[in-house]
Amino acid sequence: MAKKVKKAFFCQECGTESAKWQGKCPSCGAWNSFVEEVIEDISTQKKGDWKSPAFVSDTKKVGKPVLIKDIAIEEEERVATIDDELNRVLGGGIMPGSVVLIGGEPGIGKSTLMLQIALSLPTKKVLYVSGEESAHQIKLRGERIDKEGGSCLILTETNTQQIFTQVEEEKPDLLIIDSIQTLSSSLLEAAAGSVSQVKECTAELIRYAKETNTPVFMIGHITKDGNLAGPKVLEHMVDTVLQFEGDRHMSYRILRTVKNRFGSTSEIGIYEMVNNGLRQVSNPSEILISQRDDTLSGIAIGVIIEGNRPLLAEAQSLVTPSVYGNPQRSSNGFDSKRLNMLLAVLEKRSGYKINFSDVFFNITGGLKVEDPAIDLAVCASIISSSEDYPVSSQICFAAEVGLGGEVRAVNHIEKRISEAARLGYREIYVSKYATKGLKLDQFDIRVTEIGKLNELGDLLFI
Ligand code: TYD
Ligand code: MG
Repeated sequence: MAKKVKKAFFCQECGTESAKWQGKCPSCGAWNSFVEEVIEDISTQKKGDWKSPAFVSDTKKVGKPVLIKDIAIEEEERVATIDDELNRVLGGGIMPGSVVLIGGEPGIGKSTLMLQIALSLPTKKVLYVSGEESAHQIKLRGERIDKEGGSCLILTETNTQQIFTQVEEEKPDLLIIDSIQTLSSSLLEAAAGSVSQVKECTAELIRYAKETNTPVFMIGHITKDGNLAGPKVLEHMVDTVLQFEGDRHMSYRILRTVKNRFGSTSEIGIYEMVNNGLRQVSNPSEILISQRDDTLSGIAIGVIIEGNRPLLAEAQSLVTPSVYGNPQRSSNGFDSKRLNMLLAVLEKRSGYKINFSDVFFNITGGLKVEDPAIDLAVCASIISSSEDYPVSSQICFAAEVGLGGEVRAVNHIEKRISEAARLGYREIYVSKYATKGLKLDQFDIRVTEIGKLNELGDLLFI
């Protein structure tokens, strides 16, 4: 039988298929991203099938439409791991038959997290398939994590058909793939990591998960701009997409839900990378704030919300007279455009002369803050540094600042105030528009309301 050879060009950024080579992808606009991939049918097996040909039976189940009211809901038993952070991010535990994709930069700790989970489920049979590391390397990592992991099996294999042969034999309760970009299916001739291979291997794994009700975790690489490598459709195909992020030089890692068919997408889990693996951090505010004995100028604490959790973040500024004509502005962990905007508002609406000063700004702990509720803390830290007068370490802030110099309300104010009180702060500055219908004396903290930014200096430094 003559082989049917099909060739096509695929955009390596977004997965768009094209019959001819193109310089620019018409779909995502990426340049020079089309690569020819040979798609060759070498067997009669249907693509997307997870079972090796020997296991494909002729009597396939045929799907029939059913009335929605007739669908029996079986109480799906989620498997809660001992990792509370992961349970929270997944919406309460591992869902049977779900496919979870975990993305993150190289070296951030994806393999460590997965191995840790594999080793902490002693009653479950876990199959950890690695295409990146040798069994020896995994064993060494396991020793470092220092967990027993009585029933964790390791397989170093990249061919999906071979993997499924082993899976058929072992029937694991959880399958972990490290990583999807290293797998290849014999049904395609394209190289591992190419768009068509990634799509095909994912399709096979999804079919396997759904047919056997086995949860599958896949690790995925990300591109230089932070997106998951491979086609965007990958994210549509799987049930849950998690992002593992953090500064590689800092020890904190945040596990964030990007998509979740079985729970909310606003959850985060916080870990610290220590000598023996990833440690769960249940009280993140304590580690994000530098422990200082004496009060320094230029430091202010803001209450932000990451996911659904209130966190305290430390804003640090250094305002110094500029030596050169063009003052320098630099920002770490905070949008530099927003910093420039706040500086302009401070200059114009509150009369601080900082136009000709260098301003260096930093959020400590390697945190990246997008919540506008940090604005007031940023302004307070800049004023404090420019006046060289410290803000009391008992005070924190939670409000947005508008272009008119108005202090605006932010959401979840009750949660923020309670968190500040819980951590022992004496006073919190909030917008006066945020406290409507709120009984301020119910909190164990003084709540100071503020309407305009130019009142801040007088309130802080009397
Ligand atoms: P790894 O899980 O290999 O990252 P990824 O799979 O995302 O590429 O993590 C590797 C980093 O984690 C490495 O730089 C060393 C560090 N690490 C620790 O600090 N402590 C540990 O116990 C382990 C296992 C790794
Ligand atoms: Mg890895």
